[in-house]
Amino acid sequence: MKVLILGSGGREHALAWAVKRSRRVTEVVCAPGNGGIAQVARCVPVDLKDLDAMVRLAEAEQPALTIVGPELPLSLGIVDALQACNMRVFGPSREAARLESSKGFAKQFMKRNKIPTASYAVCTSMAEFEREVATFHAPIVVKADGLAAGKGVLICESRNTALEAARGLFSGALLGSAEQQVVIEEFLEGDEVSFLCLSDGKNVAPLAPAQDHKRIGEGDTGPNTGGMGVYSTDTILEHGMTEWILHHIAEPTVRGMAEEGTPFVGVLYCGLMMTARGPEVLEYNARFGDPETQAILLRMESDLVDALDACIDGRLGQSTLRWSPGASVCVVASSSGYPGSYKTGFPISGLGTAAQIPGVQVFHSGTSRVGSQIVTSGGRVLGVTAAGDSLRQALDRAYQAMGEIQFEGIYFRRDIGHRALAKKS
Ligand code: AMP
Ligand code: GLY
Repeated sequence: MKVLILGSGGREHALAWAVKRSRRVTEVVCAPGNGGIAQVARCVPVDLKDLDAMVRLAEAEQPALTIVGPELPLSLGIVDALQACNMRVFGPSREAARLESSKGFAKQFMKRNKIPTASYAVCTSMAEFEREVATFHAPIVVKADGLAAGKGVLICESRNTALEAARGLFSGALLGSAEQQVVIEEFLEGDEVSFLCLSDGKNVAPLAPAQDHKRIGEGDTGPNTGGMGVYSTDTILEHGMTEWILHHIAEPTVRGMAEEGTPFVGVLYCGLMMTARGPEVLEYNARFGDPETQAILLRMESDLVDALDACIDGRLGQSTLRWSPGASVCVVASSSGYPGSYKTGFPISGLGTAAQIPGVQVFHSGTSRVGSQIVTSGGRVLGVTAAGDSLRQALDRAYQAMGEIQFEGIYFRRDIGHRALAKKS
């Protein structure tokens, strides 16, 4: 069968790699893809902001299955549009994707459905914000309602900085477009865990848990990024915690969405804070995480296409997903300057040598091909991913591979997995 993947990052490279290993798949097309994806799939150009263009492409390609990577096409309604053309597509409808595309909707949904999350207020005007913010203690978290590619969350040290942040969001000065709603949240402390599961609208099946490293700097310092590295082990969650999260968070989310008439089919990504009170939801994403997916898929032993098919057909209840024991990690190599401005077009060397290290897969996030040369084309450039019997072995392999890779201005964090390593010793 032929599979179409929409997207162009490391997540989509990992998806293309995993889909290609499925015994049923004969052809993988990725739109628009990148320089690394072009080594495992046929890449065709498309604008991920243009719903009609994506539908035209799918109609021309006639894939047996389409997998949607990023949030933007989901929020535009690509799943509804392809289903209207009788095509099989994996991902949530536009309404269901509101769990990610509107933080205000997500918070109110959690409250209605008694899902643990930070206390909050959703404000539709500056006057309302001023009234509500008086009831929160600093630090105060201020969030844009809509999609903001990781830039819409501001942790404010005082009420005054929170007011300033809200003014910036309502006016459009901060994100470029004016927000209709701004969310105030209580600041939560603890370790973050990315808990992803597949959902068929009724049942959920957890993927291997992962921990992301969102800040640019070592020791979790500096500005937030899309994610600088991730690791996955079964011991991220203590005994019984997976069942607790399923019972109190993932299952009630899927049940609530179904009861409200917007069943959620796709990847439900619960961004959790493991607080002293227990796990609380920081955010939902309606898609595979990036770079979580790179590490998670390296541990997946089940056939990914079979699992996604089971979601679309509403028979996930009968499937169990198999995971390799041990650990996996993904260390992101970024361009100098990221998450601020950066230059692109630098040649990348050492990819071949890196890929020969046992257990290593180098997934490309922001690369393109110029002649026979792979060059940088984004802020996050590569996700050097490795599996191992232990976290230490997976990290050693990933960093050994990273040592082979060079491009001008390469930056990566050397402390991925530091929290887990500190706990062990
Ligand atoms: P989000 O996009 O909502 O996941 O927020 C991005 C990052 O901001 C999260 O991964 C957390 O590190 C941080 N964050 C978001 N909400 C809170 C909160 N209520 N308390 C503390 N940190 C938060
Ligand atoms: N790694 C965080 C995200 O995919 O949003």
